[in-house]
Amino acid sequence: MVSSGRPRIVVTRTPPGAAIEMLEQVGDVWVWPEDNVIPAEVLGAKSAGAHALYSMLTDPIDAKLLSGAPQLQVVSNMAVGMDNIDIPACTERGIAVGHTPGVLADTVADTAIGLLLMGARRLVEGVDFVKSGRWGPWDPNLLWGRDVHSSTVGIIGLGGVGRAVARRLTGFNCRLVYWNRTRRLEVEADLGIEYVDLEDLLEQADHVIVAVALVDATHHLIDAAALERMRSTATLVNVSRGGTVDPHALAAALANGAIAAAALDVTEPEPISMDDPLLALPNCVIIPHLGSSSEGTRTAMAVMAAENLIAALEGRPMSASPNQHLLTS
Ligand code: GLV
Ligand code: GLV
Repeated sequence: MVSSGRPRIVVTRTPPGAAIEMLEQVGDVWVWPEDNVIPAEVLGAKSAGAHALYSMLTDPIDAKLLSGAPQLQVVSNMAVGMDNIDIPACTERGIAVGHTPGVLADTVADTAIGLLLMGARRLVEGVDFVKSGRWGPWDPNLLWGRDVHSSTVGIIGLGGVGRAVARRLTGFNCRLVYWNRTRRLEVEADLGIEYVDLEDLLEQADHVIVAVALVDATHHLIDAAALERMRSTATLVNVSRGGTVDPHALAAALANGAIAAAALDVTEPEPISMDDPLLALPNCVIIPHLGSSSEGTRTAMAVMAAENLIAALEGRPMSASPNQHLLTS
């Protein structure tokens, strides 16, 4: 709790909707005024006097920043992913971390299904075909893709997004298998989904969707060996973080036919460099981290992050936090 005066709240980028007005009710708010990522030195300087940080996934909240922010009590990330935050360092310092799961799961799952169809059914290659003037008379052999319906889909990571993906694929009559660091027995029957080892998932799945949080244990989870296990007809979809997939191994696998296609919402690094070999591959579809990007969902995330921040400042539990249960108030 703040001992005297109004808490100082630093917001690293203007969020949509009413988030700023909400924060202004409880504290003195400073918002990075530009429509780009706040430079690290500005964030460091502004954090020095801050009680609360409202952060984006593009802001590294590391031990160095925390050590220069002695009054900080809460970091509220406007994202479900928290790989930009050193959570153990926050916990050690007694700083609560908040994030926004739940409200974005359905929108990200919609994106995953779109990407799966784009990759497996070669829809973007079709768009390019038309736009480049190559469309001739109807061709029975043109741009055959691989079916999504009735296929076996492997979902890596059965959190909110993975579960929402599973529910959608039920309507495509898919057989569903998943791998997660912890087995989710309680949802298996409900979703009609079977737990398998990661190796088995990669070998059995006609298509693979990565929806797992990026942590040390999932960094480059999809590496050359994993891609080698996958079917040559498989599409790999990534809606998690770019860092879960080794980009060099992926480019090689797409070029040599180890897998058929990739459809990525996220890359390592972001933005992707324009000379990245993935951009030159016709069987690789890349969109710029749009997973949760609908007006309703981005606004709901912004409000949820504001509510989390306010709750923590007022000594109430946040609705989603990886560490608040570890902190002594
Ligand atoms: C977006 O990628 C998020 O983590 O919310
Ligand atoms: C993976 O994301 C897990 O929660 O185990």
